[in-house]
Amino acid sequence: MSDVVFLNQLTEQEKYRHFLMRIEAGEKIEADDWMPDEYRSTLIKLISMHGISEIMGALPEKEWVPKAPSLKRKLGIMAKVQDEMGHGQLLLRVAEDLMKPLGKTREDIMGDLFSGRLKFHNVFHMEAPTWGDAGLIGWLVDGAAIISQTNMLNASYGPYARALKRICAEEVFHAQHGEAIIMALAEGTNEQRTMVQEAVNRWWEALLMFFGPADASTTGTSKQDITIKYRIRTKTNEQLRQDFFSKYIPRVLSLGLTLPDETLHFDQEQALWVYKQPDWNRFKEIIKNNGPKSKERLELRKTAYIENQWVREALNMAK
Ligand SMILES: [Fe+2]
Ligand SMILES: [Fe+2]
Repeated sequence: MSDVVFLNQLTEQEKYRHFLMRIEAGEKIEADDWMPDEYRSTLIKLISMHGISEIMGALPEKEWVPKAPSLKRKLGIMAKVQDEMGHGQLLLRVAEDLMKPLGKTREDIMGDLFSGRLKFHNVFHMEAPTWGDAGLIGWLVDGAAIISQTNMLNASYGPYARALKRICAEEVFHAQHGEAIIMALAEGTNEQRTMVQEAVNRWWEALLMFFGPADASTTGTSKQDITIKYRIRTKTNEQLRQDFFSKYIPRVLSLGLTLPDETLHFDQEQALWVYKQPDWNRFKEIIKNNGPKSKERLELRKTAYIENQWVREALNMAK
């Protein structure tokens, strides 16, 4: 019996149980497979937010392409910006396929971004005023992205898992590129070291927020339980933040830099990093497009979208 005939004979509840059995057995769900509405809507939200964040994340770094201190650095950061746009493209295609049965398109994703219905990642609402910030984004923001994305490499949704495999490989290059910039500055003049320290101080809170609140009660927006239930990811926000601490705190300190949290320490008994909580109310404001650069970057994206309308029209005519 074919899968389609088999599924047609099942009640909705049996289909749901069959779906859960498949993901629990480690099978991949594909775009045309039956899936519960909650699974589809969770994936659409997660993947479109991820895709759009890749694109919005290219904006603070793009600002540094003309100002990079050498040709080598300029080529490096330009390649990274291109990669991020490519990640956005890959992910939005995955989101589009999921949206098709609902009669929605990529235009809707962009419309949701401009209207504020679709959020983008908190870190990309922040300023990057110095070359130290540009390096730090590559080193620690891409470093944090690697931790959260490798947690989903085995996601139950096949197209997302496959896109992440390619994205993570490129993110490793980004993190190394950022680390090379930071190492050079940290070993440089007093002025350069101060520039890096100021960037660390500026970004620390945003990096803590990167993984989201520990539980839904903090903001009421966390979807971590649903994504774990459906095997899209395995670790909680807090476990990911702790992994980030374990990997990066020793590295930051080994460069002779400090972190702006006098309470930060590793508690041997609990085997956990203890840290000062970021201001989660501020986090809510930032992702509602009230961060320092939210409006400006959205405006930039919107202008590019309007000005490039003719390219989309030409491509559609060529189809
Ligand atoms: Fe990326
Ligand atoms: Fe990246």
